[in-house]
Amino acid sequence: RYEITQREASAEILPGLRTPLWTYEGTFPGPTIESRRGHPVTVTHRNELPVPTVVHLHGGRTPADSDGYPTDLVLPRSTMHTGHAMHDPRAVVTELTRDYTFPLDQRPALLWYHDHRMDYTAPAIWRGLAGLHIVRDDAEESLGLPAGSRELPLMIADRAFAADGSLIYPALPDRPGVTEEYLAGVLGDVILVNGAPWPVHEVDAARYRLRVLNASNARHYELEAVTDNGRRLDLVQVGADQGLLAAPVTHSALPVAPAERYDVIVDFAGVPVGGRVLIRNRLGVGRTRDVMAFRVVRRATDDSRIPGVLSADLPAWQRSDAARVREFAFRAGRTHGRHGWLIGGLPFDPARSDVVTELGDVEVWRLVADVHHPVHLHLAGFRVLSRGGRPPLPHDAGLKDTVSLRPGESVEIITRFDGYRGRYLFHCHNAEHEDMGMMANLEII
Ligand code: C2O
Ligand code: CU
Ligand code: CU
Repeated sequence: RYEITQREASAEILPGLRTPLWTYEGTFPGPTIESRRGHPVTVTHRNELPVPTVVHLHGGRTPADSDGYPTDLVLPRSTMHTGHAMHDPRAVVTELTRDYTFPLDQRPALLWYHDHRMDYTAPAIWRGLAGLHIVRDDAEESLGLPAGSRELPLMIADRAFAADGSLIYPALPDRPGVTEEYLAGVLGDVILVNGAPWPVHEVDAARYRLRVLNASNARHYELEAVTDNGRRLDLVQVGADQGLLAAPVTHSALPVAPAERYDVIVDFAGVPVGGRVLIRNRLGVGRTRDVMAFRVVRRATDDSRIPGVLSADLPAWQRSDAARVREFAFRAGRTHGRHGWLIGGLPFDPARSDVVTELGDVEVWRLVADVHHPVHLHLAGFRVLSRGGRPPLPHDAGLKDTVSLRPGESVEIITRFDGYRGRYLFHCHNAEHEDMGMMANLEII
């Protein structure tokens, strides 16, 4: 049981300046919740922010009433007096506090929780409403992967700051989320890791488990680890969005789209004491090329290992298991006379039923993109079947809940809709695209 108060707070993110934030419990990121597989957790959220909020546990296998549907609002205290949000026709459920119950009957994984309010998700996350939730189990812990202080969750997010330290988020008064100049999404020129700009973390000359989350609204990364003398260290991937891979996959650089998680082992053993390893974004320019650095401060013993077999419980769905194949186009279009981002030609409408499927059905979805779209499915982890008509890429391995569609590409995924009945979502996780309509309903009956 946890209690989280959503409230305004400020933090010193840039030296000597205070940044006003919207927070979970006064910090950005919010408190990290650690739970055990199959041990249900209830989180009571109290909203003391000036706006309605909705909490979604990204990657959670969660009953629909706790999944954070965009109109299941937790009202701010002040609206009880003014009554404004009470007259919002889209406000289906409205409360001042809300209990979110997570059964967590799922593979151990790095999940994250964030705001999901209709039309306003992107600015809410930007202002600080995001936190980590790690699910663990005995089987994973017995593998011998680096643990304790050698396991580091890294929430990577870019932000833009004004001279006084406040966050800059572009918005027009007549439009909830973003302006047409920001069709590609909102980028910042400061890279934060766990809320700190370009941090330097001291490490032993040993293996570390880096649990990377791209919590940026729109920025893509292609991460590499480079030593002072220009040597690239291997990134040994052991897990994806939804937990451990079957076997490790070694990358020299790793693309990470918004909302994706990658669990990677980096070995600092070959780095001399005093040496540094830069984590860089090959897609960045200027200072957004740098993400963070590790400084090796001591020699140390290392009894961690990377087993050749990591997990044996990955679903092995075959194309022939699929009850049906659906196709969705993720494309720009016009909606209500403005530019928007659409799925199958339509902007999100909570009243419309887009996909209805039966509990237990296996489906193949063909996702087609115009520009880059990281597509996320609630509730059901999936596997990537093909990319651009070819076999999946090495970083597509494992069980995922977000897949990066590259410009012009079509990607096939396969999943089984099991766990719970009810109304869920799928959407682009470029948070601005999501707010501009690129979201649809998924109903499991
Ligand atoms: Cu991370 Cu529907 O969201
Ligand atoms: Cu989600
Ligand atoms: Cu998109």
